[in-house]
Amino acid sequence: MEICLSDPEHGYYRRREPIGAAGDFVTAPEVSQMFGELIGLWCAVSWRQMGAPERVNLVELGPGRGTMMRDALRAAAAEPGFRAAVSLHLVETGDSLRETQHQSLADTAAAWHDTLADVPPGPLLLIANEFFDALPVHQYEMTTEGWRERLVSFEDGNCCPALAETPSALRRPGEVGDVFELAPARNDYMAEIAARVERDGGAALIIDYGHTESANGDTLQAVRAHKAQPLFAEPGLADLTSHVDFAALGRAAPAVSLHGPVRQGDFLRALGIEARAAKLQRSATPEQARDIETALHRLIEPRQMGDLFKALAVTTKGAPVPAGFERLAAAPEASQGSGAW
Ligand SMILES: C[S@@+](CC[C@H](N)C(=O)[O-])C[C@H]1O[C@@H](n2cnc3c(N)ncnc32)[C@H](O)[C@@H]1O
Repeated sequence: MEICLSDPEHGYYRRREPIGAAGDFVTAPEVSQMFGELIGLWCAVSWRQMGAPERVNLVELGPGRGTMMRDALRAAAAEPGFRAAVSLHLVETGDSLRETQHQSLADTAAAWHDTLADVPPGPLLLIANEFFDALPVHQYEMTTEGWRERLVSFEDGNCCPALAETPSALRRPGEVGDVFELAPARNDYMAEIAARVERDGGAALIIDYGHTESANGDTLQAVRAHKAQPLFAEPGLADLTSHVDFAALGRAAPAVSLHGPVRQGDFLRALGIEARAAKLQRSATPEQARDIETALHRLIEPRQMGDLFKALAVTTKGAPVPAGFERLAAAPEASQGSGAW
């Protein structure tokens, strides 16, 4: 998964422009400007809650086409002190996406980095939408002899699945055929975010599709041109993702306060997306007003992105509850078990 996505020469994210109608998939910021705008206001409010520091590192992990950051900064201009305090840092490994981000943010001073570790120290506001799902996972399958890791083999010129012969250290219940996913790369990234928040102060907001409790389930998928395809069909040419285990992320960050995860639909409603949609519709043509309604439903309806996507925030212990999380209980799991995602 890591080679397919990140190989310097052939990796999917290194070379391709995957996002948008002409690409392979569409993300929330590309569905509507409302998404990025609300995230921008979330950042401005969080900055106030931090005590309005003179300088703050605004960091986005995996900024895609730069759409969310562009919309966020435009909306956050409503809080001029915040805009003046921001140093913008974009963590992106893809060359062609970096180029697109440059264009989207042409009027804004920003620094690009390969990893979060390269961002200079200082109070932090970090946002990551659909970043964690792109970090690699290991898969384990329950066999009659216990858990075995799923590996990738190569036969007759083609990639194919294989099971490790040796037992794995995984200890959890499962029936033969069940799959469990572990994502050390995600947990390490989460631990690094938490360590920075704890050390320098600030907040982080992670939005992604996934489940609130660790559970068995095979969620690894390949997508090309908006269609699922077999995992091994076109390595490096299809997006590979798996659902984020938010409970595992939480366990990787014991020294900070976690807020959520809450459902994206509830989170965006709490931030006022319906009022924003109504305001945009007042100055829209009838056709635009219909598009705004469609986008709103796509972002918040349970059967669309509203339930599967979750928002999780990280703050220092004792900090105020971030905007959008105040009255929301953590999202209960809609379904669990093998293949139930
Ligand atoms: C699914 S896209 C999401 C893009 C954007 N956040 C959005 O919502 O449209 C994943 C993004 O993370 C970037 N990315 C993937 N793996 C990365 C890594 N290990 N380090 C930094 N960026 C990475 C990709 O190049 C891409 O910009």
